[in-house]
Amino acid sequence: MTVKTIPVATFDLVIFGGTGDLALRKLLPGLLRRYADGQIPEDSRIIGVARDALGADGYRAKVGAALERACSGEEAVRAKLPAFLSKLDYHALDATKDAGWDDFAASLTSADGRVRVFYLSTSPALFVDICNRLRDHGLNGEPSRVVIEKPIGHDSASAAQINNAVGAAFAEGQIFRIDHYLGKETVQNLLALRFANILFEPLWNANRIDHVQITVAETVGLEKRASYYDTAGALRDMVQNHLLQLLCMVAMEPPAALSADAVRDEKLKVLRSLRPIRADEVAQITVRGQYKAGASSGGAVPGYLEELGRADSRTETFVALKAEVDNWRWAGVPFYLRTGKRLPERVSEIVICFRDVPHSIFEDSAGPVVPNKLVLRLQPDEGVKLWLMIKDPGPGGLRLQHVPLDMSFAEAFGVHQPEAYERLLMDVVRGNQTLFMRRDEVEAAWKWVDPILDAWEQLRDPPKPYTAGSWGPSAAVALIERDGRTWHEDAA
Ligand code: BG6
Repeated sequence: MTVKTIPVATFDLVIFGGTGDLALRKLLPGLLRRYADGQIPEDSRIIGVARDALGADGYRAKVGAALERACSGEEAVRAKLPAFLSKLDYHALDATKDAGWDDFAASLTSADGRVRVFYLSTSPALFVDICNRLRDHGLNGEPSRVVIEKPIGHDSASAAQINNAVGAAFAEGQIFRIDHYLGKETVQNLLALRFANILFEPLWNANRIDHVQITVAETVGLEKRASYYDTAGALRDMVQNHLLQLLCMVAMEPPAALSADAVRDEKLKVLRSLRPIRADEVAQITVRGQYKAGASSGGAVPGYLEELGRADSRTETFVALKAEVDNWRWAGVPFYLRTGKRLPERVSEIVICFRDVPHSIFEDSAGPVVPNKLVLRLQPDEGVKLWLMIKDPGPGGLRLQHVPLDMSFAEAFGVHQPEAYERLLMDVVRGNQTLFMRRDEVEAAWKWVDPILDAWEQLRDPPKPYTAGSWGPSAAVALIERDGRTWHEDAA
């Protein structure tokens, strides 16, 4: 199968925080892969910005070493590394000081009107300074786009502050708020599956769907991000953005077109239909956990507090909760969400659990009629499985079997699945905001999350401990089992 790569227009991409972890581990490897694939025009430039006095050669050496590591084993990609590095430049700048900004601005003023992307891969505390300086140097005009990373605030008030500050320098159509989960292949496939097939839409509602599960499980722990993570916790870090965005993609009404605003309008309606979780039910329908020492990825690992080096943190590294979407389509269909660090495997999936058949015609000896499930696997092994009942093949009595109709994308198409950032960076250059969060979406998600955070604060309960390498506190199992349901386990 041939994969069509459509080149984007020539661009200048400035990465603020150009020596940081995200830039070196995700953004620059993603750009190298797109370049090796022929999608990035030769005269494009990538400019790292950070405080260190590195110089262009020093930056190229640093990035080169990081890319060798990130793309080891990808020979065709690595072959393009020298040419890619020649497109890199570097400016030492401090967002809070004037020095160097005039030269920086002059270097970006080109006559060809090329797209300019400013990627703010920095602490949110610097967003305001950077945006103001870009504006003051006339770099916020039409061909410019600004990309901001989460966390966009730690509650709705602080999110509004950031949005106001960025919005004072750039128009909403120039602001790209990244939620990298939206760039994952399976998430976009959900759009294709739902809206390019007639099969599912008639079933996609409370009449046929019993409940939905969304799991994002990680094996990693704090990963040297203690200073950020300990002030955030799993609800802010994962649920407010990634898990709610996945929920929106499952629950939204069909948009009239695949345009950015049509899709985002529909997602916003879902966020606004989420039933607020009341303080008196928070202990019942939410679970927060924190991992203690155990084993993960085959080795012994310390607990969260040991990793953090403090004994008093109440930050949650695990959340499970039951959400409800109060509208005609989803009334009475719970959405069970769970995410955590140091769980037994890295797996992200959406499971659509259908209702029981209304009446079984089979003898008991045929075995139970298990409800259908549609499992969308985001990672690893991206793909879709539709669990069906069939007759156990062969002679003898009629026995039933629950089997998956399995479409693993890697096997089916034999192509490298692009990393989320690869696609999203190219979408920024193309000016396509469909897979980016609009201001009102971010704020609506916080409005749903804020009362949960407040209620947890009032309860003063410490997070429930769970052993690293387990599926979280037993209360997370009880949360779903109380409703007569169980978390999905892939049996095949
Ligand atoms: C980030 C979170 O947004 O997503 C991290 O801040 C988390 O805590 C990461 O580890 C997970 O992303 P992925 O793509 O590895 O599932």
